[in-house]
Amino acid sequence: MNTTALRDEADYAAVLANQFDAVVAENAMKFGPIHPEPDRYDFTGADAVVEAGEANGQVVRGHTLVWHQQLPAWLEGADLSREEAIAILRDHIATVVGRYRGRIAQWDVVNEALPDSGSGLRDTPWLRWIGPDYLDLAFQFAHEADPDALLFYNDYDPANTGEKSDRIFDLVAAMQARGVPIHGVGLQFHVYVPVDRAAVDAQIQRARDLGLRYAMTEVDVALPLPVTDALLHQQSVQMGTLLAACVAEPATCTTFVLWGFTDRHSWIPSFLPGLGAATPLDERLAPKPAWQALRHALDPDEPAPVAPLDEVPTLPPSVPGPVTPSTEPAPAVPLPGAPAYTG
Ligand code: G3I
Repeated sequence: MNTTALRDEADYAAVLANQFDAVVAENAMKFGPIHPEPDRYDFTGADAVVEAGEANGQVVRGHTLVWHQQLPAWLEGADLSREEAIAILRDHIATVVGRYRGRIAQWDVVNEALPDSGSGLRDTPWLRWIGPDYLDLAFQFAHEADPDALLFYNDYDPANTGEKSDRIFDLVAAMQARGVPIHGVGLQFHVYVPVDRAAVDAQIQRARDLGLRYAMTEVDVALPLPVTDALLHQQSVQMGTLLAACVAEPATCTTFVLWGFTDRHSWIPSFLPGLGAATPLDERLAPKPAWQALRHALDPDEPAPVAPLDEVPTLPPSVPGPVTPSTEPAPAVPLPGAPAYTG
């Protein structure tokens, strides 16, 4: 949820209220916006999200308590001792989680603590200030502040199937083994390469084997601009595949979040120039094929999106006879290559 759009755009707010059963703030609960000065919190945006979700009977998800991005100016570059940083972390989590105790059902406690390649933890201010146990501490503080909230570790795997997701599961399994109160693992799924259903199924299985919940937390499928019908169809296949995998394991995959539901408000074009149209509703909030694919994944009685027909070949004027459009599906159009975004 974009809180500015929620406030200013009635059509955006109406779709949000009517079409979803959970809400997440895209930015309003991050450290910088919610805790802009050492002794001052600003709950304006976060309250709006929670109140809108409650008014609409929606589950509210919290994102995110500990991240290396969107830190407030007072923390960015600060020279803190371990004790000082732990005190700040404890105060922040106790205040934010405590304020919404019983009202925010799931928290992304720590976001993107792993590097894209190599071993160990990502080099972040939290790691430098506190050391590797900052993750365990964050989960402990969150659990103390709301013992009923489900606590997730959230990260992304650029290939959405590969070596990094193994490290994500190794990290959460080790935390579990240490007795850390962790209840789920979130995979973001900013998709740039075709989704491998078998690999996604294997991830969900791994979460189930660990007794953890599995969440698809930030689904979008960025397309090269301008889009074509073939690309929009490819996008629908990717989103439908992800939601179908989740729906197939309802006891484990309990959360499916779109990172923006309309192309009117999406982080993709400004972060990855040349890409966009990443969400299932267009800028006017009209459904794209991906929207239909999501509906079909939730309810098989809903028709699946239809692949676009081949373009009608332009025949030279000397050739007589009617032109019959092909009924073959359009050829697969590869999605763009690996993202420039690296967390
Ligand atoms: O709100 C301020 C505004 O006051 C200021 O004038 C303006 C000037 O730049 O910035 C505004 O903040 C921007 C904020 O989005 C709200 O629009 C930040 O600059 C901008 O960096 C921020 O981007 C967000 C990004 O996280 C931060 O890295 C994106 O909207 C948000 O979609 C994105 O979300 C992340 C997830 O949290 C974690 N996973 C990856 C995902 C995509 O990067």
